[in-house]
Amino acid sequence: MISIKSDREIELMKHAGHINYLTHKLISENIKEGISTKALNDIAHKFIIDNGCKPSFLNYEGYPASICISINDEVVHGIPSRRKLKNGDVVSIDIGVEYKGYHSDSANTYIVGSASKEIIDLVDNTKKSLYEGLSVIKEGAKISDIGRKIEDFAHQNHLSVVRELVGHGVGSDIHEEPDVPNYFTKDIVKLKSGMVIAVEPMLNLGTRHIYMVEDGWTIKTEDGKPSAHFEHTVLVTKDGFVILTGE
Ligand code: MF3
Ligand code: CO
Repeated sequence: MISIKSDREIELMKHAGHINYLTHKLISENIKEGISTKALNDIAHKFIIDNGCKPSFLNYEGYPASICISINDEVVHGIPSRRKLKNGDVVSIDIGVEYKGYHSDSANTYIVGSASKEIIDLVDNTKKSLYEGLSVIKEGAKISDIGRKIEDFAHQNHLSVVRELVGHGVGSDIHEEPDVPNYFTKDIVKLKSGMVIAVEPMLNLGTRHIYMVEDGWTIKTEDGKPSAHFEHTVLVTKDGFVILTGE
């Protein structure tokens, strides 16, 4: 069952989304060469708690940190550690914020210092693919229209689309129905006003294939090439959508 949110639930999710956005902003100001991913995790954790919210990912299915930080060939679900950021690193930051039992989910990818045009394009085009996907959202649109848009844009820009992980509904659970794939499917399920979904393309420079490392969480590209990830939680409306994790 895909839940339709009440006005009250939407208000709570807007607040969870706003704190999520502000946490991303704070992290963006602290991302630099030499800082450890654990230090970034702790900055985010403190900010979320100080604002009367909870980090959604902490202890989720046993996940051991407050946010996910995935570097270079790490696609998603990287666990913060003593690893320090280096010039040229491609760093995906994924944050979940819970307010009064309701969640928001958002990811951004940054380049530390300088990088090649190929890497800059990977990051820019992954971000653009998210907005391409969002552009079709409104009541009555098919969920599969989102993935079709993202996949077409990725392929036009010579990037591959991770298929094993997908976007999802968001609400009183961080992961709810429906799945929101980043590639074309024959699914005919339609969006309705009041649904809240997270759209989150993960695009790779090389092969789309991935694997999980021994820590049981971190997902990496099979060929070791970099990956980027952007995500927003959005409310579906009659004529379009509202980004809950935006400015
Ligand atoms: N934002 C992630 C997603 O939707 C969820 C991470 S859960 C964690 O895929 F436990 F891995 F942190
Ligand atoms: Co998500």
